[in-house]
Amino acid sequence: MPPEMRTGKQIMEQDSADLKPIPLSVPDLRGNERAYLARCVTDNWVSSAGPFVTEFETRIATLTARRHAVSTVNGTAALQLALRAAGVGDGDLVVVPDWTFAATANAVLRAGGIPFFVDVATDSLTLDSGLVATVLANPSYQGRVAAVIPVHAAGHPPDMDVLIEICGRSEIPLVEDAAGAIGATYKERPAGGFGDASIFSFNGNKIVTAGGGGMVMTDRADWAERAKHLSTQARLGDEYEHDAVGDNLRMTNLNAAVGLAQLERLDEMLAARSRIARRYDAAIAECEMLASLPRAPWAVGNDWMYTLQTETVADAKTLLAHFAERKIGARSFWRSLSAQPPYAEMPSLLNGVSAAVSGRTVSLPCSSNLTEDEQGRVIEAIADWASRGPTKR
Ligand SMILES: Cc1ncc(COP(=O)(O)O)c(C=O)c1O
Repeated sequence: MPPEMRTGKQIMEQDSADLKPIPLSVPDLRGNERAYLARCVTDNWVSSAGPFVTEFETRIATLTARRHAVSTVNGTAALQLALRAAGVGDGDLVVVPDWTFAATANAVLRAGGIPFFVDVATDSLTLDSGLVATVLANPSYQGRVAAVIPVHAAGHPPDMDVLIEICGRSEIPLVEDAAGAIGATYKERPAGGFGDASIFSFNGNKIVTAGGGGMVMTDRADWAERAKHLSTQARLGDEYEHDAVGDNLRMTNLNAAVGLAQLERLDEMLAARSRIARRYDAAIAECEMLASLPRAPWAVGNDWMYTLQTETVADAKTLLAHFAERKIGARSFWRSLSAQPPYAEMPSLLNGVSAAVSGRTVSLPCSSNLTEDEQGRVIEAIADWASRGPTKR
């Protein structure tokens, strides 16, 4: 059909069909990934041992100022192993934030524990230390809480010193879920370096991906040893003898090859995420109806998943629909876990913050390989949506 014969609707549809989709957060594989993968094949190291695994572990331990790092198939497995190393077992309570990815709670359940959902603080959307102290001081929970898991929210660190002090007073292990927080700092110390053990995830949407993967970091040789042992079916030596029920949760050399190549470009990728985030900050500051997630003075986040807040749930829905029409891969972020069916019967101490933010978050495309033009399209879409005024409820 000649262009002059098209209706307005057809023009809009054609324009939309021509648009290139902009993904949310995808791997940025512009370093040595290909070369290192080829090396795995050439050297016949493609399974769950090999030189890249060892090197990747060493580099992550150095980055987080930890003595030990144990690689795993994913971040959920890393958390499960860290909890088992911490001694979490049948029926133990483990404090987790109500506002986190389900993996945090699921890892507790897989380790045999029960998640105890504690709300987050408004200044950081991370674990509310006052509420954690209340739980640990409650006589009905004394001797029943086996660990506390502070989670970095979209790459923003919790108030670690305060949480470490509270846990230390009750002699309860602290396991830091820094799944998406590589490169973030808390009071100038690296995320992944706090508490008795920490974990990273290297899944495909993280700043550093290994395709899939995770890591347990700890200063405790016995915990590192235990985590590694449980990740290899708790097998004793080369014999088919076992001293516990283990799992097969090791990272492969192929994944470690990708992870290592990614790590070499960490600074560059962090700088790109930061540049993208600051441009979004400026655009969002222009829209009264939108705000970026809170940032506390103790932290420098890594801008892993740039997320904004809308005033209402209805606004978030229309904004997401607006992005979808324009092939912009935005997505709603975490929701209160205790409000969801699998976790509804589990213990909790809530202050309403997690419930209030649920459904009002929208994560924006923020891959380190996002182009200026692509980001311009996202910002244009935000301005266009904002110009239409608040969503009628
Ligand atoms: C807070 C948090 N914990 C744990 C995980 C689990 O990591 P994985 O997806 O590698 O299992 C994630 C993954 O995104 C996460 O965001």
